[in-house]
Amino acid sequence: MRTPFVVGNWKLHKTIAESLALVTELKNQLGSLREVAVGVAPPFTALHAVAKRVEDSSLAVAAQDCFWEEKGAFTGEVAPAMLRDAGCTWAIIGHSERRQFFGDTDEAVGKKVKAALAAGLGVIACVGETLAQRDGGATFQIVEQHLAGAVSDLDAAVVDRVVIAYEPVWAIGTGRTATPAQAQEVHAFIRSWLGKQLGAAAAASIRIQYGGSVKPDNAALLMREPDIDGALVGGASLQAADFVAICRAAKPS
Ligand code: PGA
Repeated sequence: MRTPFVVGNWKLHKTIAESLALVTELKNQLGSLREVAVGVAPPFTALHAVAKRVEDSSLAVAAQDCFWEEKGAFTGEVAPAMLRDAGCTWAIIGHSERRQFFGDTDEAVGKKVKAALAAGLGVIACVGETLAQRDGGATFQIVEQHLAGAVSDLDAAVVDRVVIAYEPVWAIGTGRTATPAQAQEVHAFIRSWLGKQLGAAAAASIRIQYGGSVKPDNAALLMREPDIDGALVGGASLQAADFVAICRAAKPS
């Protein structure tokens, strides 16, 4: 019922030329893949060129962040409508690296989610605990706090443009993936929280991606879990062969 969604988060990697080379390979290799939605999140500088290149394909283009204001004296920021103008249809919001290095609070994440949705973008809202929080038994509390900040009072009309990414911080870029059971446990918690806040229909339709060291050799088992609906892929999305293998592994069996 939920089409899996796999998105490559390129982070601070790739020139425009490198971005075009990678996305062209993805377009060629993923053209025949059905039943999985695929997107890429290049750096801001490459968004427009990449969006043009994939115009005639089903690949979606996501920004890695956005600001909540539409315009004004906000040096360095990019507004949701500007991202749409550049050809984006999605924005990743609240990634743990934004929270850790750039001070994105739950409040800021909530404002960004609202602004992005209001501008017509889809949103991938990231949630997830650090290792200290997991070891301290606070995983569900942190995930709930992130969810409350990001998506607590959404209009039913926009939920089809909302995706949650569960990304345990201890698994991001570390090579240490959550086990399928660990991930499923939190995904099920997220879905039940969504049910209480947004209603059963929204909870059943919102896709929940797993992120954190997803690789070709661990993707299939993660994707088999009932509440894991795709992946947000960092390191392994920078090589076409690895990312294509992960996208294929997300196909429902
Ligand atoms: P990773 O990053 O796949 O390199 O662990 C995932 C992410 O940060 O979205």
